[in-house]
Amino acid sequence: MLKLPGLIDPHVHVREPGQTHKEDWDTATQAALAGGITMILAMPNTKPPIFDASTLDLALDSAKQKARCDYAQYVGAGPNNADKVASLADKAAGLKMYLDSTFGELRLDDMTLWVPHFEKYPKQYPIVVHAESRSMAAAILFAAIYDRPVHIAHVSLKEEILLIKAAKERGIKVTCEVCPHHLFLMEGDVPLSPSPSAFPGIRERGKSGRAEVRPRLATQEDVDALWQNLDVIDCFATDHAPHTLEEKDSENPPPGFPGLETALPLWLTAVKDGRLTVDDIISKMYVNPKKIFNLPEQADTFVEVDENAKYEIKAANQFTRCGWTPFEGWKVKGRVTRVVLRGREAFKDGKVLSEKGFGRNVREY
Ligand code: DOR
Ligand code: ZN
Repeated sequence: MLKLPGLIDPHVHVREPGQTHKEDWDTATQAALAGGITMILAMPNTKPPIFDASTLDLALDSAKQKARCDYAQYVGAGPNNADKVASLADKAAGLKMYLDSTFGELRLDDMTLWVPHFEKYPKQYPIVVHAESRSMAAAILFAAIYDRPVHIAHVSLKEEILLIKAAKERGIKVTCEVCPHHLFLMEGDVPLSPSPSAFPGIRERGKSGRAEVRPRLATQEDVDALWQNLDVIDCFATDHAPHTLEEKDSENPPPGFPGLETALPLWLTAVKDGRLTVDDIISKMYVNPKKIFNLPEQADTFVEVDENAKYEIKAANQFTRCGWTPFEGWKVKGRVTRVVLRGREAFKDGKVLSEKGFGRNVREY
């Protein structure tokens, strides 16, 4: 039996308010606990987006009623809300800026719109950017000019991880996260089976709405560069982005993969394969996110794992409402058997035990 601290996922799309047919605070936090994650930071690209005091309250009210693990909620940067979101900073997980193509309405193309956010958002919390390739380089330049922490979400490319490495070496306050799907999947990897259990584990090269994700899945060279630069990666984040199977298989598939329940088993399997260490998991899913996002300690909180349990990932066994996983049929080694959150048994042997509303907003700890 392996004992881990309660893990932190700084990048989760809960979908509430507005799209609870995909997920809500109840199902997202159940999925988190089943994956050994005791604290989630929720993204603001909901419907409506979270971008001022009243929308923040809307999200936090639902969370207060329904969350079963601890949480904080991001606010989103819009074209004219820099003062408002800065004044909410102590109540928020951080500020999220969408600088590239994504799902939802929050997007800031013109760099003059970035300026007030970089000037005003309090420096003890990071600005988290969805930025890819050259827009990521621009975000790093902003971090340097304003001398403030910037956290780069879901790094997927070789050119990105190498630039982040160079920026860190020069003392620029940049940190980053990588998602499991960008380390375990490549462009052309497509879940084949129309019903999740029909062809477990079989994949084919081709196009499918299920493979849509932003940033896109990348090349072997990119994936290799990420694995070779694990020391540059501060956090493992899931970017849990649930959309239903019906939506993924539709004409207009929205981008995103669920990930809360598959991340830890995939990392533990990589440990068995000698590609990672347990210390890597602890630093990237507990020590570093806690430091970067200025998060409190969750007292008497831990995760127990049966390191030798071998099983197949199956959507049918998941708590997420979206009903699928890009890792269907993958054989993994390492099962979460028990989660204790603030002294209470929150998950045990496949069952979520903490009730709705047990989760606390870590910004009100
Ligand atoms: O694949 C993605 N899904 N990338 C994003 O940036 C947004 C996310 C979502 O909310 O579905
Ligand atoms: Zn995301």
